[in-house]
Amino acid sequence: MKYFTKLFYVIGFLLFFVTFSFAIYFAEKMNDFRVSAAKEKVPSYKYHFVLVPEEVDNNYWRLIEKGARDAANQFGIELEYVGPKQGNIDEHLKTLEMAAAAKVDGIISQGLTEKQFTPLINKLVKNGTPIITIDTDAENSNRNSYVGTNNYYAGFIAGQALLKDTSGIVNVAIITGSFHSINQKMRMNGFKAAVKGEERVRIIAIEESKISQIRAAEKTYQILEKYPQVNAIFGTSALDGIGIANSVTLLNRVEGMYIIGFDTLDETLAAMKKGIIDATVTQEPYEMGHRSVELMIKIIEGKKVPTTNYTNTDVIHKEDITADMKEDTVK
Ligand code: BGC
Repeated sequence: MKYFTKLFYVIGFLLFFVTFSFAIYFAEKMNDFRVSAAKEKVPSYKYHFVLVPEEVDNNYWRLIEKGARDAANQFGIELEYVGPKQGNIDEHLKTLEMAAAAKVDGIISQGLTEKQFTPLINKLVKNGTPIITIDTDAENSNRNSYVGTNNYYAGFIAGQALLKDTSGIVNVAIITGSFHSINQKMRMNGFKAAVKGEERVRIIAIEESKISQIRAAEKTYQILEKYPQVNAIFGTSALDGIGIANSVTLLNRVEGMYIIGFDTLDETLAAMKKGIIDATVTQEPYEMGHRSVELMIKIIEGKKVPTTNYTNTDVIHKEDITADMKEDTVK
């Protein structure tokens, strides 16, 4: 063979070898990519749940979210926490509809109001989405289960505490989170039932805070200006007691004023330690979140669960606050 012919064959062979190797290498790479893309499509979680709070950034609801997230991580659940930025019933209902339309495996939500929530819950459950009400029950709906405080009882023990902690004439003002929410109405009814028939206790003003701490402070201010004889105030939702405490302090009315609030958020405990808030009704938001995820899994897997699951509620005073109280609620 001529020298040039040999060289031609060698270069040809080398070119073929290099091209062939590259082809194999890239084919392998493509395969890897396809496999990993396919892997990504397979969800790594068992079920997808949505938790809808009354207000996304409310510290009380953040505790519920924390409990639900811990349970979700424990059991391999994808948990979405979505809802109104500030309490808004229409937005809340729309979020429920959207979650059901997205075919999530379960919805955990407040019941909030009878008129609007019951028909929607019934519709979504009928169409196949299990629903657990949390914090506030839509008792007459077809929700699968309720996890939360017995709100009537919680209001009742607040009334009992007021009777026990006070003497003489008590002129009470109530600041309630909402005139329309079922849990707030039940707390108020429970409270009224506990003080009913006690001649020395009179409820002389009831105002709504729309679950805003600032509005609770404003309403307290207006009540105290209008009814200087008020010497006890009951706040029926988590931010009310804090707002009440701010106005009572501002107006220099701490002395001789009995304040009973709800929940154990940091600011409430701080105001209790300072002797501004006298008592508070405890709830278990972390436990509510955790337990609702556990129950939802059982419901989906066809196990029987109780339709009502009450979490603990109690009244505490300054001396009951322990160093690890925060850890009790925020685990
Ligand atoms: C209630 C919740 C409410 C929150 C408002 C809590 O006491 O249980 O329903 O959303 O207060 O801050």
